[in-house]
Amino acid sequence: MTLRKIGFYGHVQQYHNLKAEIDAALQEVLESGTFVLGPKGKQFERELAVYLNMKEAVGVNSGTDALWLAFLAMGIGPGDEVITTSNTFFATAEAIWIVGATPVFVDIDPATCNLDPNLVEAAITPRTKAIVPVHLYGQCAQMREIARVAKAHKLLVVEDCAQALGARGDDFAIGEVSDAVATSFIIQKNLGCFGDGGALATNDPELASRIRKLGNHGSPKRSHHSIGYNSRLDEIHAAVLSVKLKQLDRWGDQRRALAEQYDEGLKGTSLTLPTALPGYRHIYHLYVVETPERDALQAYLQERGVTTLTHYPIAIHQQEGYPWGRGARISGSLKHTEKSAAQVLSLPMYPELTAEAAQVTIEAIRAWDKSRR
Ligand SMILES: Cc1ncc(COP(=O)(O)O)c(C=O)c1O
Repeated sequence: MTLRKIGFYGHVQQYHNLKAEIDAALQEVLESGTFVLGPKGKQFERELAVYLNMKEAVGVNSGTDALWLAFLAMGIGPGDEVITTSNTFFATAEAIWIVGATPVFVDIDPATCNLDPNLVEAAITPRTKAIVPVHLYGQCAQMREIARVAKAHKLLVVEDCAQALGARGDDFAIGEVSDAVATSFIIQKNLGCFGDGGALATNDPELASRIRKLGNHGSPKRSHHSIGYNSRLDEIHAAVLSVKLKQLDRWGDQRRALAEQYDEGLKGTSLTLPTALPGYRHIYHLYVVETPERDALQAYLQERGVTTLTHYPIAIHQQEGYPWGRGARISGSLKHTEKSAAQVLSLPMYPELTAEAAQVTIEAIRAWDKSRR
């Protein structure tokens, strides 16, 4: 019997599906001789701003840079606290540490795995400057509630949207009730380039121009500098992203259809399935199930050719050496974060995944589940 392999990513297939258009876009950049700060970057920034219905988008080197350059541009630094979640990719908190500020971790809502908005207020001190909700796994955090607390306490809000470009809340869009939106274009993301890339979107043109300047050696125009950094979205990446952005909503719909198939197929098993909030457009960057026997299930699936991953099995505050001599604070307990970290398993989820392959995964999980009873 030949083992059917089901991988975790579909981006090579995605390239094949768009090959003619992507190759033409790359060729155009190569022939232009302009590789940074050129027309493709400008065009993509405009397209992204239109897509998000926001005033400006600034292309940078990575999602991490989008976050920390935003903090820097907002004047967040040493002595300031930033409220966020420990149940996220490391970069969310790393960006806070990079600018010298102190992350303050609050627990998640165990249903969505996103920051619990009801716990934010208790974490606020006179030093709090901002809240950074993460739209984990492709579902928006509860931004209305977070924005309400932020407004009452005059705090900034930066959305970490690395995993959720294309998602929506029930009665809010990404960027509608915050100060800025940071996103990542590393290939694993729903909109991915061929290397590192990121962007910061905002409705504040002044903030956008500060970030643009910071990301270009503090240079508003040629030969004029103040201290900044080198963080720009390359032309090659911008050209590819322009091609792919047109597909993003269709890809989101395909992910949602696969999620529905998993939901249906795994109903009645011992696994905890993802919760999509009513009215939210969850775009399933990841389809994450939970089980106390996560490692056993992962090994079982791997033996049957199904690759799964864990996002994130070690919460930030659980990392070895935390907090590396820097400031950090935990508000209340992080018991839901820790429980989730010990149980999460991400199933294959990408637009190029066939319904047939998803079915193979479902059946393997059902067989495992039955064998455990
Ligand atoms: C939630 C989250 N925040 C930030 C980042 C950082 O993005 P990048 O890898 O582009 O620096 C990522 C992804 O890598 C992420 O998943």
